[in-house]
Amino acid sequence: STILVLHGPNLNMLGTREPEVYGHETLADIDDRLRETAAQQAHHLLHLQSNAEYELIERVHEARAEGVDFILINPAAFTHTSVALRDAMLASGIPFIEVHLSNVHAREPFRHHSYFSDIAEGVICGLGSQGYDLALQAALHRINR
Ligand code: DQA
Repeated sequence: STILVLHGPNLNMLGTREPEVYGHETLADIDDRLRETAAQQAHHLLHLQSNAEYELIERVHEARAEGVDFILINPAAFTHTSVALRDAMLASGIPFIEVHLSNVHAREPFRHHSYFSDIAEGVICGLGSQGYDLALQAALHRINR
């Protein structure tokens, strides 16, 4: 099966961006680890980070055409703003898990609302980069069952 990992804006800065909030690992560290875990179970993992809303939307459209089975997405700030990316997820019909490194509910009120949570299979937040590993584990469990 194929799993697509999508990272929204500013996540390319991981490792140096507010490390007390987001940790010291880089996005490449996280993606490499996820790819390894997926490969161990003979699954294929693709990933994209973009600061541009339209690139993420177009990637989701392509994912549908490609037959991607599951998406893990950290929409980052688009979580709280993007009806367009939400609509792309709905249009793709691909099941997904929403991941946030930080506990968005313990932060500013504008981070408490997500345009994705009500249409996600599940949501993980506040567990740092481990949240991606847990989301992948859940995705693989769902794909294999
Ligand atoms: C984030 C939380 C968002 O509120 C923020 O805009 C981000 C990262 C997280 O992973 O904790 O960029 O999605």
